[in-house]
Amino acid sequence: MASAKPPTVVISGSGLWTPDHIITNDELVAAYNEWANRYNARHADAIAAGKMEEKPQSSSEFIEKASGIKQRYAYIKEGILDVDRMRPFIPERPDDALSDQAEIAVRAARQAMAVAGKTAAGIDAVIVSCAYTQRSYPAIAIEVQEALGIDGFGFDMLVACSAATFALHRAYEMVAAGTARCVLTINPELTSPQVNFCDRDSHFIFGDVATAAVVERADTCTAPHGYDILGTRAKTKFSSHVRSNFGYVSRANDVDPFGTDKLFHQNGRRVFKEVCPMAIQHLTDHISEHGLNVPDIKRWWLHQANINMNQHIGGKLLGREATFDEAPIVLDRYANTASAGSLIAFHLYHQDLKPGDHGVICSFGAGYSIGSLVVRKR
Ligand code: COA
Repeated sequence: MASAKPPTVVISGSGLWTPDHIITNDELVAAYNEWANRYNARHADAIAAGKMEEKPQSSSEFIEKASGIKQRYAYIKEGILDVDRMRPFIPERPDDALSDQAEIAVRAARQAMAVAGKTAAGIDAVIVSCAYTQRSYPAIAIEVQEALGIDGFGFDMLVACSAATFALHRAYEMVAAGTARCVLTINPELTSPQVNFCDRDSHFIFGDVATAAVVERADTCTAPHGYDILGTRAKTKFSSHVRSNFGYVSRANDVDPFGTDKLFHQNGRRVFKEVCPMAIQHLTDHISEHGLNVPDIKRWWLHQANINMNQHIGGKLLGREATFDEAPIVLDRYANTASAGSLIAFHLYHQDLKPGDHGVICSFGAGYSIGSLVVRKR
């Protein structure tokens, strides 16, 4: 007996919550440099005796050239530039208040629902997927589900840089399999608490944001700018070159739960060298699986970690530099927003494509993890 053809699955809406507060490179560098000066003065004798290393100065010029980042958004700016603190001050909320991450998730989700023309009654499942959740349980997704009044179920996923694309994969599979009619995926990337603002190599990398998407069957989609998902592809390969050891076991390890290895740290050069070829191969294979060639792709909504990475990948794929129109860049404004970067690019730059135009959403980074979706404008 022939099995029923799975339904066409569509991204029917997206949402983007951008924090109110901006931190420029100059502001960040001034705070770090002052912190480094004080550190060096405090440890002058040990540094002179060769027992400790001097903290070097950071520079805005380096940051922009090495990463393409000009500024980043902060959920809460207070504390980050305070040389006596060097981390955001986010007051703890009581158990009966909406958590910070659920709050920003709800803001992005409401936008995506409005764009897709969906009310809570039309959604069956909520996936919150990001680099960190602020607690282990109950799931942030279930809190969001409750706040939005959605019946059904929700769960959290952690896939670092690929959390957003991997969540879209799960949503696609659930709708295709018929286990949900419509799924809300949300990426509340509250990255600032994991940044070591006292580390020159990484203090500039991240920004806070939340993105969301609605995934549903084509036969229920009424949105004006829906995209059929033609296929998804995922790849992971273990690497410790981007790592955060923060976790509940620290308590039993008798170590400082906020020690520097517990925060984000990386070997940026290795990541660059190892991830770029993986991403290029992955993208080439994925589009060819759908009978498409590079010139057939109207837009590449790529992960946003580093401008040089995007230019390298775009250049290798196209055989020349990609234009902004072909591969839009948002990291100058948003910085690296963990998994949300490709979704920010999609959200801001998808309405102008014409029916039948093809595009690719792709993330790459920590794990290592690579996730992609080949889509076609309806
Ligand atoms: N200000 C001034 N100089 C700095 C600096 C800063 N803030 N940070 C580092 N430097 C120095 C380094 O110490 C180094 O000096 P040296 O040559 O004397 O040793 C020099 O600048 C070059 O540093 P390097 O780390 O090799 O720079 P880079 O060109 O590789 O750029 C990254 C650094 C992190 C921007 C880049 O490697 C990157 O983005 N890689 C990919 C990372 C990624 O995608 N990660 C995923 C995260 S989720």
